[in-house]
Amino acid sequence: MSQGSGKNPYRPGVGVRPLYLAGREGPLRRFGAMLRAAPEQQASMRITGLRGVGKTVLLEEFADHALQAGWEPAFLELQPSHNTDETLRRTLAVLLERTRERLSRRERLRKVAGRALRAASLSVSWEEVSLSVSFGSEREEDLARELFTTVELALAKGRTGVILLLDEAQLVRDERGRHGEHPLSLLIAPVVALQRRELPLGLVVCGLPTLTGNLQKARSYSERLFRGEEVGSLDPEHALQAFTRPLEQTTRTSEHRLARAVVEEVEGYPYFVQLWGSELWDAAELAGVQRFTTKLLDATRPDIYGRLDRDFYEPRTATLTPAEQDLLAASASCPYPPLRSAGLTRASQKTPGNVNVLLGRLVDAGALYRVRKGEYAYTAPKFRDYLLRRAGA
Ligand SMILES: Nc1ncnc2c1ncn2[C@@H]1O[C@H](COP(=O)(O)OP(=O)(O)OP(=O)(O)O)[C@@H](O)[C@H]1O
Ligand SMILES: [Mg+2]
Repeated sequence: MSQGSGKNPYRPGVGVRPLYLAGREGPLRRFGAMLRAAPEQQASMRITGLRGVGKTVLLEEFADHALQAGWEPAFLELQPSHNTDETLRRTLAVLLERTRERLSRRERLRKVAGRALRAASLSVSWEEVSLSVSFGSEREEDLARELFTTVELALAKGRTGVILLLDEAQLVRDERGRHGEHPLSLLIAPVVALQRRELPLGLVVCGLPTLTGNLQKARSYSERLFRGEEVGSLDPEHALQAFTRPLEQTTRTSEHRLARAVVEEVEGYPYFVQLWGSELWDAAELAGVQRFTTKLLDATRPDIYGRLDRDFYEPRTATLTPAEQDLLAASASCPYPPLRSAGLTRASQKTPGNVNVLLGRLVDAGALYRVRKGEYAYTAPKFRDYLLRRAGA
């Protein structure tokens, strides 16, 4: 092994921050502007994108920016189990309680450092709010009260406001019909009601593209409420930076031709940039070389794809039933994009009804999302190539 090259500077993973966050200046600028315009303008944002494009790390970056701007961030990764009114209410109650504890702790520490901030108070009381808003249910009112007291405390502790940052938000969706579960509406309605009273309360929901449709279906008029941010692959220049910048802190270097080849091969997708970099680093270390070359890439490619399939794609299909797996496998022989249900019916030799049920389940499982009626797309980039590799294996 060569000595003194430093540590592997790439970070392929789930929600693992890269050493250099490339090409996200736009969303960060718009997030800052949104906070500055609050509470007179509603601070609600929706971030959508495919798997591995960097939604979670962007959301964490938002949390840092919010903190620096004087806001108190409350970050939560939603789970499938949160998809009922009661579990979501309880989870958010715990999140808000922790946020209040953190606010008190932060103020104590500030006082020790002699940097106490000027406290402010809300211009409305909870009584006024609860009298003027007709909440859809007791749960909605409970959540509104929790949110209100958290914002109230934040201001009393010298903060500017509170912002909820909810990851994997596509997991929470309303059922059709009055009597079903409506956790997404349960979340949005109280936030909107408090924002209308000009409380400094922000909400960022982040998830797979399905989130957009879920919000549309939720009882609120969400399209006008949320500023939409789509995160996707990086353009070639930013992808190049994502690949080369981490190396600058080490003694290893990359041939320009190689860097260009990587960016092209991975189509600018952030997770892939990190994975290719990480594997090239390990290969260079094994070979005892300081420079990444196209020759090294050619020799490393089987390892790269092996790890890609193992770490990125397989875990995302492991929980699917055999029938769902079959439909996915059959989809590889259909024209793409998009996948059409008619084509899938032909390719899978299943009945149209069966295909539609399975498509619904694959959407719920987060493997596909519905582009429009009868048209679907994979939620992971280059997923079709993976299916073809798997079929060939
Ligand atoms: N802008 C960026 N520049 C460089 N690397 C990035 C960037 N954004 C994300 N990454 C890297 O990409 C990988 C995936 O990031 P992240 O987990 O945030 O994606 P995601 O969209 O949340 O994926 P998932 O949908 O699976 O949760 C991480 O290894 C991260 O370090
Ligand atoms: Mg994520």
